[in-house]
Amino acid sequence: MEELIVLKNQASARILDAKNLEELNEVKLSFLGKSGSLTEALKRIKDVDPERRAEFGQLANEVKRAIEGMIDQRESELSNVKKRSQTKQLDVTLPGIRPSHGHLHLVTQAIEEISEIFARIGFKRVRYPEVEWDWYAFGALNFPDNHPARDDWETFFIDEKRSNKYGPMLLTPHTSSGQIREMSNAVRSASGGEIKPIKMLNIAKTYRRQSDISHTSMFHQFETLYIDEKVSITHLKGILDYFVKSWFGENRKSRIRPYHFQFTEPSFETDISCGVCNGTGKIKGEKCRLCKGGWLELGGAGMVHPNVIKAAGLDPKKYSGFASGWGVERVLMMRDGLEIDDLRMLYSNNLDFLSQF
Ligand code: PHE
Repeated sequence: MEELIVLKNQASARILDAKNLEELNEVKLSFLGKSGSLTEALKRIKDVDPERRAEFGQLANEVKRAIEGMIDQRESELSNVKKRSQTKQLDVTLPGIRPSHGHLHLVTQAIEEISEIFARIGFKRVRYPEVEWDWYAFGALNFPDNHPARDDWETFFIDEKRSNKYGPMLLTPHTSSGQIREMSNAVRSASGGEIKPIKMLNIAKTYRRQSDISHTSMFHQFETLYIDEKVSITHLKGILDYFVKSWFGENRKSRIRPYHFQFTEPSFETDISCGVCNGTGKIKGEKCRLCKGGWLELGGAGMVHPNVIKAAGLDPKKYSGFASGWGVERVLMMRDGLEIDDLRMLYSNNLDFLSQF
Protein backbone atom coordinates (compact mmCIF):
# COMPACT_ATOMS: atom_id res chain seq x y z
CA MET A 1 0.00 0.00 0.00
CA GLU A 2 2.95 2.27 0.62
CA GLU A 3 4.16 1.49 -2.86
CA LEU A 4 0.78 2.70 -4.22
CA ILE A 5 1.20 6.08 -2.49
CA VAL A 6 4.75 6.37 -3.86
CA LEU A 7 3.47 5.57 -7.35
CA LYS A 8 0.78 8.22 -7.03
CA ASN A 9 3.34 10.86 -6.03
CA GLN A 10 5.70 9.88 -8.83
CA ALA A 11 2.85 9.98 -11.33
CA SER A 12 1.73 13.39 -10.09
CA ALA A 13 5.24 14.84 -10.51
CA ARG A 14 5.72 13.42 -13.99
CA ILE A 15 2.26 14.47 -15.17
CA LEU A 16 2.94 18.07 -14.17
CA ASP A 17 6.33 17.87 -15.88
CA ALA A 18 4.86 16.77 -19.22
CA LYS A 19 5.43 19.62 -21.65
CA ASN A 20 3.17 18.43 -24.41
CA LEU A 21 0.52 15.84 -25.22
CA GLU A 22 3.08 13.33 -26.54
CA GLU A 23 5.06 13.41 -23.29
CA LEU A 24 1.84 13.14 -21.29
CA ASN A 25 0.83 10.06 -23.27
CA GLU A 26 4.18 8.43 -22.44
CA VAL A 27 3.61 9.14 -18.75
CA LYS A 28 0.11 7.69 -19.03
CA LEU A 29 1.42 4.48 -20.61
CA SER A 30 4.21 4.09 -18.09
CA PHE A 31 1.69 4.06 -15.19
CA LEU A 32 -1.60 2.84 -16.64
CA GLY A 33 -0.47 0.92 -19.75
CA LYS A 34 -0.53 -2.89 -20.02
CA SER A 35 2.82 -3.22 -18.28
CA GLY A 36 2.65 0.20 -16.58
CA SER A 37 3.89 0.41 -13.01
CA LEU A 38 0.39 0.86 -11.47
CA THR A 39 -1.02 -1.99 -13.58
CA GLU A 40 1.86 -4.19 -12.34
CA ALA A 41 1.28 -3.15 -8.74
CA LEU A 42 -2.41 -4.02 -9.02
CA LYS A 43 -1.53 -7.50 -10.23
CA ARG A 44 0.17 -8.08 -6.89
CA ILE A 45 -3.20 -7.93 -5.07
CA LYS A 46 -3.02 -11.71 -4.86
CA ASP A 47 0.10 -11.42 -2.68
CA VAL A 48 -1.74 -9.21 -0.19
CA ASP A 49 -2.95 -10.61 3.09
CA PRO A 50 -6.59 -11.67 2.36
CA GLU A 51 -7.81 -9.62 5.31
CA ARG A 52 -6.38 -6.46 3.87
CA ARG A 53 -7.23 -7.08 0.21
CA ALA A 54 -10.40 -5.01 0.31
CA GLU A 55 -8.50 -2.06 1.79
CA PHE A 56 -5.72 -2.50 -0.79
CA GLY A 57 -8.26 -2.73 -3.60
CA GLN A 58 -9.99 0.45 -2.48
CA LEU A 59 -6.71 2.39 -2.23
CA ALA A 60 -5.57 1.04 -5.60
CA ASN A 61 -8.80 2.28 -7.21
CA GLU A 62 -8.43 5.68 -5.57
CA VAL A 63 -4.84 5.98 -6.78
CA LYS A 64 -5.84 4.93 -10.29
CA ARG A 65 -8.69 7.44 -10.43
CA ALA A 66 -6.45 10.16 -9.03
CA ILE A 67 -3.80 9.51 -11.68
CA GLU A 68 -6.44 9.44 -14.44
CA GLY A 69 -7.91 12.66 -13.12
CA MET A 70 -4.52 14.37 -13.09
CA ILE A 71 -3.83 13.15 -16.63
CA ASP A 72 -7.21 14.50 -17.85
CA GLN A 73 -6.55 17.82 -16.22
CA ARG A 74 -3.07 18.14 -17.69
CA GLU A 75 -4.34 17.00 -21.05
CA SER A 76 -6.85 19.80 -21.26
CA GLU A 77 -4.24 22.35 -20.10
CA LEU A 78 -1.82 21.21 -22.79
CA SER A 79 -4.39 21.18 -25.56
CA ASN A 80 -5.51 24.69 -24.57
CA VAL A 81 -1.95 25.90 -24.91
CA LYS A 82 -1.85 24.31 -28.33
CA LYS A 83 -5.17 25.88 -29.30
CA ARG A 84 -4.02 29.27 -28.10
CA SER A 85 -0.83 29.15 -30.09
CA GLN A 86 -2.80 28.11 -33.15
CA THR A 87 -5.26 30.94 -32.67
CA LYS A 88 -2.39 33.37 -32.37
CA GLN A 89 -1.28 32.58 -35.90
CA LEU A 90 -4.78 33.36 -37.13
CA ASP A 91 -5.50 36.42 -34.98
CA VAL A 92 -7.13 38.73 -37.51
CA THR A 93 -7.39 41.53 -34.96
CA LEU A 94 -3.63 42.02 -34.80
CA PRO A 95 -2.31 44.93 -36.88
CA GLY A 96 -1.00 43.65 -40.18
CA ILE A 97 2.24 44.42 -41.93
CA ARG A 98 1.63 47.58 -43.89
CA PRO A 99 2.63 47.33 -47.52
CA SER A 100 4.68 50.36 -48.42
CA HIS A 101 2.73 52.71 -50.63
CA GLY A 102 3.61 56.00 -52.19
CA HIS A 103 2.10 59.46 -51.87
CA LEU A 104 1.67 62.46 -54.04
CA HIS A 105 4.75 64.49 -54.91
CA LEU A 106 5.38 67.52 -52.73
CA VAL A 107 4.65 69.87 -55.62
CA THR A 108 1.42 68.02 -56.51
CA GLN A 109 0.31 68.37 -52.89
CA ALA A 110 0.99 72.09 -53.09
CA ILE A 111 -0.93 72.41 -56.36
CA GLU A 112 -3.95 70.70 -54.80
CA GLU A 113 -3.84 72.94 -51.75
CA ILE A 114 -3.52 76.09 -53.84
CA SER A 115 -6.45 74.92 -56.01
CA GLU A 116 -8.58 74.45 -52.88
CA ILE A 117 -7.69 77.86 -51.49
CA PHE A 118 -8.77 79.58 -54.71
CA ALA A 119 -11.79 77.31 -55.24
CA ARG A 120 -13.19 78.68 -51.96
CA ILE A 121 -13.43 82.14 -53.52
CA GLY A 122 -14.77 80.88 -56.83
CA PHE A 123 -11.62 80.64 -58.92
CA LYS A 124 -11.87 77.77 -61.36
CA ARG A 125 -8.76 75.78 -62.13
CA VAL A 126 -7.97 75.51 -65.82
CA ARG A 127 -5.12 74.15 -67.88
CA TYR A 128 -3.91 75.22 -71.28
CA PRO A 129 -1.22 73.96 -73.65
CA GLU A 130 2.30 73.91 -72.25
CA VAL A 131 3.63 73.71 -75.79
CA GLU A 132 2.26 76.96 -77.11
CA TRP A 133 2.41 79.50 -79.92
CA ASP A 134 4.39 82.70 -79.47
CA TRP A 135 1.20 84.76 -79.85
CA TYR A 136 -0.32 83.45 -76.61
CA ALA A 137 2.91 83.60 -74.60
CA PHE A 138 4.25 86.94 -75.93
CA GLY A 139 2.51 88.58 -78.87
CA ALA A 140 -0.95 89.06 -77.39
CA LEU A 141 0.66 89.92 -74.05
CA ASN A 142 2.03 93.17 -75.43
CA PHE A 143 5.66 92.02 -75.79
CA PRO A 144 7.52 93.97 -78.50
CA ASP A 145 9.21 91.87 -81.21
CA ASN A 146 12.66 92.54 -79.84
CA HIS A 147 11.88 91.78 -76.20
CA PRO A 148 14.73 89.76 -74.59
CA ALA A 149 12.32 87.06 -73.34
CA ARG A 150 11.76 86.16 -76.97
CA ASP A 151 15.42 85.29 -77.28
CA ASP A 152 16.72 81.76 -77.55
CA TRP A 153 18.72 82.34 -74.39
CA GLU A 154 15.61 82.79 -72.30
CA THR A 155 12.94 80.62 -73.83
CA PHE A 156 12.85 77.10 -75.30
CA PHE A 157 11.63 77.24 -78.89
CA ILE A 158 10.26 74.20 -80.66
CA ASP A 159 11.61 73.38 -84.07
CA GLU A 160 8.19 73.53 -85.71
CA LYS A 161 8.15 74.25 -89.42
CA ARG A 162 4.44 75.12 -89.60
CA SER A 163 5.01 78.69 -88.59
CA ASN A 164 1.74 80.60 -88.86
CA LYS A 165 0.21 83.89 -87.84
CA TYR A 166 0.69 82.83 -84.20
CA GLY A 167 4.46 82.81 -84.69
CA PRO A 168 6.95 80.14 -83.64
CA MET A 169 6.14 77.35 -81.18
CA LEU A 170 7.65 77.31 -77.69
CA LEU A 171 7.45 75.84 -74.20
CA THR A 172 5.39 78.23 -72.06
CA PRO A 173 7.82 80.47 -70.14
CA HIS A 174 4.99 81.60 -67.85
CA THR A 175 1.33 80.79 -67.16
CA SER A 176 0.25 84.20 -68.50
CA SER A 177 -0.41 82.59 -71.90
CA GLY A 178 -3.50 81.19 -70.15
CA GLN A 179 -4.89 84.75 -69.85
CA ILE A 180 -5.33 85.02 -73.61
CA ARG A 181 -6.69 81.46 -73.92
CA GLU A 182 -9.20 82.08 -71.12
CA MET A 183 -10.42 85.44 -72.40
CA SER A 184 -10.68 84.14 -75.99
CA ASN A 185 -12.79 81.21 -74.74
CA ALA A 186 -15.04 83.63 -72.87
CA VAL A 187 -15.47 85.73 -76.01
CA ARG A 188 -16.36 82.61 -78.00
CA SER A 189 -19.10 81.62 -75.57
CA ALA A 190 -20.35 85.18 -74.98
CA SER A 191 -23.99 85.96 -75.54
CA GLY A 192 -25.21 89.39 -76.66
CA GLY A 193 -21.71 90.84 -76.44
CA GLU A 194 -21.56 90.00 -72.73
CA ILE A 195 -19.07 87.60 -71.24
CA LYS A 196 -19.46 85.85 -67.92
CA PRO A 197 -17.03 87.29 -65.36
CA ILE A 198 -13.74 85.38 -65.47
CA LYS A 199 -12.18 83.94 -62.32
CA MET A 200 -9.34 81.80 -63.56
CA LEU A 201 -6.67 79.82 -61.75
CA ASN A 202 -4.18 78.45 -64.25
CA ILE A 203 -1.59 76.12 -62.70
CA ALA A 204 0.88 74.72 -65.18
CA LYS A 205 4.44 73.77 -65.97
CA THR A 206 6.63 76.60 -67.17
CA TYR A 207 10.03 76.42 -68.82
CA ARG A 208 13.02 78.71 -68.88
CA ARG A 209 16.69 78.37 -69.70
CA GLN A 210 17.97 78.26 -66.15
CA SER A 211 19.38 75.74 -63.69
CA ASP A 212 21.02 76.49 -60.35
CA ILE A 213 20.28 75.89 -56.67
CA SER A 214 17.21 78.11 -56.77
CA HIS A 215 16.08 77.52 -60.36
CA THR A 216 15.04 74.51 -62.40
CA SER A 217 14.43 74.70 -66.14
CA MET A 218 10.93 73.30 -65.52
CA PHE A 219 8.92 74.75 -62.66
CA HIS A 220 5.29 75.54 -61.90
CA GLN A 221 3.35 78.76 -61.76
CA PHE A 222 -0.15 79.54 -60.64
CA GLU A 223 -1.82 82.41 -62.39
CA THR A 224 -4.98 84.19 -61.38
CA LEU A 225 -7.05 86.23 -63.77
CA TYR A 226 -10.13 88.16 -62.74
CA ILE A 227 -12.00 89.98 -65.50
CA ASP A 228 -15.28 91.83 -65.04
CA GLU A 229 -16.64 95.33 -65.27
CA LYS A 230 -15.00 97.75 -62.84
CA VAL A 231 -12.32 95.51 -61.34
CA SER A 232 -9.85 97.55 -59.32
CA ILE A 233 -6.51 97.22 -57.54
CA THR A 234 -8.46 96.72 -54.32
CA HIS A 235 -9.66 93.36 -55.66
CA LEU A 236 -6.09 92.38 -56.37
CA LYS A 237 -4.98 93.39 -52.88
CA GLY A 238 -7.85 91.41 -51.41
CA ILE A 239 -6.97 88.22 -53.27
CA LEU A 240 -3.27 88.63 -52.45
CA ASP A 241 -4.01 89.03 -48.76
CA TYR A 242 -6.47 86.14 -48.78
CA PHE A 243 -3.91 83.83 -50.36
CA VAL A 244 -1.08 84.94 -48.08
CA LYS A 245 -3.17 84.33 -44.97
CA SER A 246 -4.52 80.98 -46.20
CA TRP A 247 -1.17 79.65 -47.32
CA PHE A 248 1.36 81.20 -44.95
CA GLY A 249 -0.77 81.92 -41.88
CA GLU A 250 -3.13 84.48 -40.40
CA ASN A 251 -0.32 86.55 -38.90
CA ARG A 252 1.37 87.30 -42.24
CA LYS A 253 0.90 90.62 -44.03
CA SER A 254 1.10 91.41 -47.72
CA ARG A 255 1.95 94.47 -49.78
CA ILE A 256 2.26 95.51 -53.40
CA ARG A 257 5.02 97.69 -54.80
CA PRO A 258 5.48 99.20 -58.28
CA TYR A 259 7.17 97.08 -60.91
CA HIS A 260 7.07 96.51 -64.65
CA PHE A 261 5.52 93.82 -66.80
CA GLN A 262 4.60 94.17 -70.49
CA PHE A 263 1.07 92.85 -69.99
CA THR A 264 -0.08 94.70 -66.87
CA GLU A 265 -0.51 98.41 -66.16
CA PRO A 266 0.09 99.29 -63.44
CA SER A 267 2.33 96.36 -62.53
CA PHE A 268 3.36 95.24 -59.09
CA GLU A 269 5.72 93.01 -57.28
CA THR A 270 3.86 91.39 -54.39
CA ASP A 271 5.56 90.77 -51.04
CA ILE A 272 4.75 88.97 -47.80
CA SER A 273 5.98 89.87 -44.35
CA CYS A 274 8.92 87.72 -43.26
CA GLY A 275 7.97 84.87 -40.93
CA VAL A 276 11.39 84.77 -39.27
CA CYS A 277 11.66 88.39 -38.08
CA ASN A 278 7.90 88.99 -38.14
CA GLY A 279 8.18 91.76 -40.70
CA THR A 280 10.56 93.88 -38.61
CA GLY A 281 13.72 93.12 -40.61
CA LYS A 282 15.61 92.65 -37.37
CA ILE A 283 16.34 89.84 -34.92
CA LYS A 284 17.82 90.93 -31.56
CA GLY A 285 19.13 94.13 -33.09
CA GLU A 286 20.82 92.29 -35.99
CA LYS A 287 19.60 92.38 -39.61
CA CYS A 288 17.31 89.44 -40.44
CA ARG A 289 19.28 87.07 -42.66
CA LEU A 290 16.25 85.76 -44.56
CA CYS A 291 14.62 88.93 -45.80
CA LYS A 292 15.28 92.46 -46.94
CA GLY A 293 13.81 94.84 -44.39
CA GLY A 294 11.03 92.54 -43.21
CA TRP A 295 9.59 91.53 -46.60
CA LEU A 296 9.94 88.55 -48.92
CA GLU A 297 9.16 88.68 -52.63
CA LEU A 298 6.24 86.54 -53.71
CA GLY A 299 5.90 87.26 -57.45
CA GLY A 300 4.30 89.44 -60.07
CA ALA A 301 0.84 90.89 -60.45
CA GLY A 302 -0.94 93.84 -61.98
CA MET A 303 -4.01 95.25 -63.71
CA VAL A 304 -4.42 93.59 -67.09
CA HIS A 305 -3.10 95.95 -69.81
CA PRO A 306 -5.85 97.33 -72.14
CA ASN A 307 -3.82 96.05 -75.14
CA VAL A 308 -4.06 92.52 -73.72
CA ILE A 309 -7.80 92.76 -73.16
CA LYS A 310 -8.16 94.03 -76.73
CA ALA A 311 -5.87 91.31 -78.18
CA ALA A 312 -8.10 88.68 -76.59
CA GLY A 313 -11.15 90.20 -78.28
CA LEU A 314 -12.71 92.15 -75.40
CA ASP A 315 -13.49 95.85 -75.10
CA PRO A 316 -11.01 97.42 -72.65
CA LYS A 317 -13.43 100.30 -72.06
CA LYS A 318 -15.98 97.86 -70.68
CA TYR A 319 -13.83 95.23 -69.06
CA SER A 320 -10.92 95.46 -66.67
CA GLY A 321 -9.19 92.98 -64.44
CA PHE A 322 -6.16 91.89 -62.55
CA ALA A 323 -3.72 89.04 -63.00
CA SER A 324 -1.07 87.52 -60.79
CA GLY A 325 1.58 84.90 -61.49
CA TRP A 326 3.40 83.19 -58.65
CA GLY A 327 5.71 80.19 -58.41
CA VAL A 328 4.43 76.96 -56.85
CA GLU A 329 7.92 75.79 -55.82
CA ARG A 330 8.65 79.27 -54.55
CA VAL A 331 5.66 79.52 -52.21
CA LEU A 332 6.39 75.98 -51.08
CA MET A 333 9.96 76.90 -50.12
CA MET A 334 8.87 80.12 -48.47
CA ARG A 335 6.40 78.44 -46.19
CA ASP A 336 7.63 78.17 -42.62
CA GLY A 337 9.49 75.06 -41.59
CA LEU A 338 10.45 73.94 -45.05
CA GLU A 339 14.05 74.45 -46.00
CA ILE A 340 15.25 72.90 -49.22
CA ASP A 341 18.89 73.71 -49.90
CA ASP A 342 18.69 72.96 -53.59
CA LEU A 343 15.45 73.36 -55.54
CA ARG A 344 16.63 70.79 -58.08
CA MET A 345 16.16 68.11 -55.38
CA LEU A 346 12.42 68.32 -56.08
CA TYR A 347 12.91 66.73 -59.48
CA SER A 348 15.84 64.40 -58.81
CA ASN A 349 13.53 61.44 -58.07
CA ASN A 350 15.46 60.70 -54.90
CA LEU A 351 13.05 58.69 -52.73
CA ASP A 352 15.02 59.34 -49.51
CA PHE A 353 14.28 63.00 -50.06
CA LEU A 354 10.76 62.78 -51.46
CA SER A 355 9.36 60.31 -48.93
CA GLN A 356 9.90 62.85 -46.15
CA PHE A 357 6.96 64.93 -47.33
N1 PHE B 1 4.18 86.19 -65.94
C1 PHE B 1 4.93 86.91 -64.96
C2 PHE B 1 6.23 86.17 -64.68
O1 PHE B 1 6.36 85.02 -65.02
C3 PHE B 1 4.18 87.05 -63.67
C4 PHE B 1 2.93 87.89 -63.80
C5 PHE B 1 1.73 87.27 -64.02
C6 PHE B 1 2.97 89.27 -63.68
C7 PHE B 1 0.55 88.04 -64.11
C8 PHE B 1 1.83 90.01 -63.75
C9 PHE B 1 0.62 89.42 -63.96
O2 PHE B 1 7.16 86.72 -64.10
